[in-house]
Amino acid sequence: MNESSQTLVEKSFTFEDCGGSQSLTVSIPEVLDPQYGMYVWPCAVVLSQYVWMARSELQHKTVLELGAGVSLPGVVAAKCGARVILSDSAELPLCLRNCRRSCDVNHLPNVPVIGLTWGQVSPELLSLPPVDVILGSDVFYEPEDFEDVLVTVSFIVRRNPHAQLWTTYQERSADWSIDALLHKWDLKCINVPLETFDANKNHLAGSTLPGNHTVQMMIITRQVF
Ligand SMILES: C[S@@+](CC[C@H](N)C(=O)[O-])C[C@H]1O[C@@H](n2cnc3c(N)ncnc32)[C@H](O)[C@@H]1O
Repeated sequence: MNESSQTLVEKSFTFEDCGGSQSLTVSIPEVLDPQYGMYVWPCAVVLSQYVWMARSELQHKTVLELGAGVSLPGVVAAKCGARVILSDSAELPLCLRNCRRSCDVNHLPNVPVIGLTWGQVSPELLSLPPVDVILGSDVFYEPEDFEDVLVTVSFIVRRNPHAQLWTTYQERSADWSIDALLHKWDLKCINVPLETFDANKNHLAGSTLPGNHTVQMMIITRQVF
């Protein structure tokens, strides 16, 4: 698909603190196309709400978003003062273009967009600067990719032992689990209840996402023995 054959629709998301004294509105262009990475997934709104609530921790931190697609969480982090790098599969140039477009619409010209394919130790992965936080919204959606995602995360947290993966996933099957893979790749995880960051709602940030989808939030870090 070339640029001219794409139909774009801009969606706005407004994040507010409890008292309503601070707010942030971002616009995300979505492509009317059923492929992954072309529009905002329910998980992205929940992760963005977490980013918004944790914004004071993110000032001047380096944040890498994996499988960013249209990049709502990364855009929110950048707007909150983080140094953000957006990434999607090196083999999906249309998704990388979506990352760039979301930055352009939100006046973020200095956010780098890189091709990072999960599970591959590429020059782009090797040349990352020190990373504090990794964002991954709905990156655990295809069981055959779970290990590749965790290989990339494990590589980054070995180099940056304090780094954390903040990730949301949508419950699609009760049979899916990453527990054995976390153990294999020396990682551990805690679940973050949605009510602790005001995300236990069907409507978030002025959007009807996440709706009735069951979304969970986890923080994954290095397991030190
Ligand atoms: C379900 S979509 C989620 C998109 C976005 N994070 C969100 O929540 O709105 C999964 C994303 O992972 C990306 N992806 C798929 N396979 C990948 C791979 N092997 N390496 C890196 N990214 C990949 C897709 O291009 C897509 O952007």
